[in-house]
Amino acid sequence: MKYYEGHESVYQKLERAGKFAWGDRVGGDGADSEGRNLRLLLDHVFEQVTFAGPSRYALDLGCGSGPVSAILAKRGWRTLGLDVSETAVKLAQRRAAEQGFTDAEFAVGDIINYPNPTSQFDLIVDACCLHCLVFDADRSKALANIRQLLKPGGVFAVCTKTTGAKDKAENFFTDETGILWMYTGTNLFEDSKQVNGKWYMPQRRILSPETLRRELTAAGFTVTWNASMEHGNFSAICQ
Ligand SMILES: C[S@@+](CC[C@H](N)C(=O)[O-])C[C@H]1O[C@@H](n2cnc3c(N)ncnc32)[C@H](O)[C@@H]1O
Repeated sequence: MKYYEGHESVYQKLERAGKFAWGDRVGGDGADSEGRNLRLLLDHVFEQVTFAGPSRYALDLGCGSGPVSAILAKRGWRTLGLDVSETAVKLAQRRAAEQGFTDAEFAVGDIINYPNPTSQFDLIVDACCLHCLVFDADRSKALANIRQLLKPGGVFAVCTKTTGAKDKAENFFTDETGILWMYTGTNLFEDSKQVNGKWYMPQRRILSPETLRRELTAAGFTVTWNASMEHGNFSAICQ
């Protein structure tokens, strides 16, 4: 199993606990379970960009249980939420049905290996998914797919962790490339590794804002706005 598929067990635990938001997981920040930084980023997108044309279609990348799709649906957007976690997609579908979002679809899928896209989007929102993709090769495949999925003139809005995020001291270490490794006790994933006899999995990639901007530029995006947000999050609007 790939390291980024570990989110499935988090959503299974949330479902068993009768909860659904990522921030409500064990160790989550609960107080902001629906992602204040994502809401602020979307406010900036809608202040700065006028989307032309009658049909506005957005990809909610790493949708989890769908907070971004919910915000966009309320603004009248048609959305596709994509996530590797089946349980997250089920929770997002349940929320959309309960709230009557008829134009919000969700699908299980991996942005690193996203075969033959049939649609293009006016807006793609990285809803804290990119920082879950830790290796350079995985990130460049994902960014190339995002580029391909974006309509000409479309917007890629990024909400991601950068350096300055609160250190997760116990049971974690960050290596010299910015990969945050989490102690797991056993060999859980194909990219797990042993350090001093203990098993760790790669969990996040925490780059500096400058390195992230360089990565986005190298992938063919122009960063038109960016800002540091609360909790070490970083937001960018790219075209
Ligand atoms: C930090 S959570 C955020 C979830 C949601 N966007 C939110 O704000 O509540 C990151 C999400 O990205 C998803 N994810 C991780 N790697 C992915 C991949 N390669 N393709 C699609 N989704 C992925 C995870 O399953 C998880 O739901």
